[in-house]
Amino acid sequence: MRIYQEADYDAMSRRTAAIIAAEVIRKPDCVLGLATGSTPVGSYRQLVAWQQEGLLSFGTVTTVNLDEYRGLGPDHEQSYRHFMRVNLFDQVDIRPDRTYLPDGLAADPEAECRRYDALVESLGGTDLQLLGMGHNGHIGFNEPGTAFIRETHVVDLTRSTIEANARFFQKKEEVPRQAITMGVGTIMSARRVLVAVSGADKAEAVRRAFCGPITPEVPASILQLHRDVVLVGDVAALSGMREEGVFQ
Ligand code: GLP
Repeated sequence: MRIYQEADYDAMSRRTAAIIAAEVIRKPDCVLGLATGSTPVGSYRQLVAWQQEGLLSFGTVTTVNLDEYRGLGPDHEQSYRHFMRVNLFDQVDIRPDRTYLPDGLAADPEAECRRYDALVESLGGTDLQLLGMGHNGHIGFNEPGTAFIRETHVVDLTRSTIEANARFFQKKEEVPRQAITMGVGTIMSARRVLVAVSGADKAEAVRRAFCGPITPEVPASILQLHRDVVLVGDVAALSGMREEGVFQ
């Protein structure tokens, strides 16, 4: 695993964006696995700036997002499709028909999950998968549990995730209780995984993910088995790993 320790959120964002940009420049028709949450916002902002400066193009890039809330349509302000449009898709030269997310309104969610896995496979898999991390070690919406779930699936969000996401909604009752998420099998099949973390509140989750046992109780811990993980964090988020003596 390669670790980049950056001074703060802005430096972490710039480094994360640089690694994504390198992939896009190296392979202009790459498949990027993208993530939502507050962590990648700064990286997307940087990518937008670089694209607008003409340093890179998303013209032949395809994207597949990790997850989507169940019950929220693409025009709902808190849907992940909307998030991606506002933070990246509408501001760069990507083709909208090359941007994929699970359909949160699918009448048959199980069929939607199968469709999504088949889609990722038909694209030849993901070249670079960007991940944030939940406070409980979740990736995408793979919540702590008793087993790792390979395929895309419908998930009941945990109380801690609902509370963490409540800040984006007017009322806590409006936070969706379910989501459709890529499973850890699809995430692990990405050729490279890029994990971005920021803030002291993530330090314990990061420590448990990379220094503790591999267990479905900490879904991100499965990444220890991936052969090409790049971890980019600010000093605060990496403090737990530093205490373990992994690096200075
Ligand atoms: C949500 C998303 C995850 C994300 C996590 C952390 O649960 N499904 O993909 O990593 O939030 O979000 P933040 O970056 O805002 O801490």
